[in-house]
Amino acid sequence: MSVEPPVKIAPAEGKLGVLMPGMGAVATTFVAGVEAVKRGAGLPIGSLTQMATIRLGKRTEGRSPYVKDFVPLAKLDDMVFGGWDIYEDTAYEAALNAKVLEQSLLDVVKEPLSALKPMKAVFEQEYVKRINGPNVKTEGSKMDKAQALIDDIKNFQKTNNVDRTVMVWCGSTEVFHRPAAVHQTLASFEEGLAKSDPEIAPSQIYAYASLMAGVPFANGAPNLTHDIPALLDLSRDRSLPICGKDFKTGQTFMKTLLAPAFKARMLGIRGWFSTNILGNRDGEVLEDPGSFKSKEETKLSVLEHILQPDLYPELYRDLYHAVRINYYPPRGDAKEGWDNIDIFGWLGYPMQIKIDFLCRDSILAAPIVLDLVIFMDLAQRAGMKGIQEWLSFYFKAPMTAPGLYPEHDLFIQLMKLKNTLRWMRGEDLITHLGLEYYD
Ligand SMILES: NC(=O)c1ccc[n+]([C@@H]2O[C@H](COP(=O)([O-])OP(=O)(O)OC[C@H]3O[C@@H](n4cnc5c(N)ncnc54)[C@H](O)[C@@H]3O)[C@@H](O)[C@H]2O)c1
Repeated sequence: MSVEPPVKIAPAEGKLGVLMPGMGAVATTFVAGVEAVKRGAGLPIGSLTQMATIRLGKRTEGRSPYVKDFVPLAKLDDMVFGGWDIYEDTAYEAALNAKVLEQSLLDVVKEPLSALKPMKAVFEQEYVKRINGPNVKTEGSKMDKAQALIDDIKNFQKTNNVDRTVMVWCGSTEVFHRPAAVHQTLASFEEGLAKSDPEIAPSQIYAYASLMAGVPFANGAPNLTHDIPALLDLSRDRSLPICGKDFKTGQTFMKTLLAPAFKARMLGIRGWFSTNILGNRDGEVLEDPGSFKSKEETKLSVLEHILQPDLYPELYRDLYHAVRINYYPPRGDAKEGWDNIDIFGWLGYPMQIKIDFLCRDSILAAPIVLDLVIFMDLAQRAGMKGIQEWLSFYFKAPMTAPGLYPEHDLFIQLMKLKNTLRWMRGEDLITHLGLEYYD
């Protein structure tokens, strides 16, 4: 049974601008993929907005439209791309350097990728230690740089005749920082920008500029960005959706599948050792202990929340959990993630599970960027503001309301996402109770 929808969704008319700080492996694989799909040169595999269906009503009703036919979503043909990077390479050159996609595929999309030139970045060496490039804004205070980014956004929108815009941070992982006094209120944050406070990261300047320009913002990396009171308040004040952080792609994706399964069966875990080798630029940046610490925090946090050792001390209290990442150039973007899991069952008898995921980092991340762009635009047109917890599905460390623990179980996240779509359209939420089939 459907009812009057609780939200009014504006139609997805006109062009959707997609802005990305950081035009490296993930961003270029995403843009190249969208352009390839538009030209019939590939399928958008891994993207829920493009490929998934959604069940409506009872199982006996046989109603399972595509998500894209159920809610009004932006079309790939209506997307226009822009971004910033510290390197001057066009998206085509950056994609060649990233070595994710084959030359034959890049040939198909050479024209649009070559036309995509990065704008000058806001960058600070203190925040990303292992790389440096010439394409940066050098003038003025952090507030001046934020204003320059706002001007970039406005110019991009005007030049491309864009109706709506979404920004997704695809830049390198910045070093680990905790929220400081300057992050607490919008007034202290703006004062900090004017004084170029060292606690304000480049990613926070982009997030601020994005929100000030009326553009929803998502964070694909683990660094502290808009998950601070000042920017949370700004997103609500400006009625803009935000979400983050750290795309859930390889090893953590696996972890959030398996850990809920062990817990569901009340199997204990003594240890979970995760190690990775990767040879892309992301791997090089993560060699720096400060950047690694940002990543380690998001990767480690998932088990604690899923397993709830305080509720199940006999099963999970003494769990040893470690995550390692090693830069290993021969592998490029083709990461290998190993997990050794020591579990125990009936009467405490031990067992082991080994996972060896030979994945492709950016191939897994690209459809996530696409879905986030499309769903953030939907949220904006539906008048949804602040943290979009229903998009937790895509993140290693989902943002939540202060004091609320995040939901990491992938299938709970998926249910939450689909129920949010049903809710938006006034359809019954699916609880899986199902007693009515046996009445
Ligand atoms: N599976 C995945 O690939 C995956 C999963 C989760 C998170 N991430 C995160 O996504 C981000 C992008 O990953 P990638 O593989 O594309 O890395 P990458 O190194 O190929 O690209 C990052 C780009 O950001 C640029 N950059 C750095 N600081 C910048 C700034 N201040 N302004 C503008 N550009 C800046 C760099 O020059 C680089 O070109 C990383 O933070 C990574 O940790 C990736």
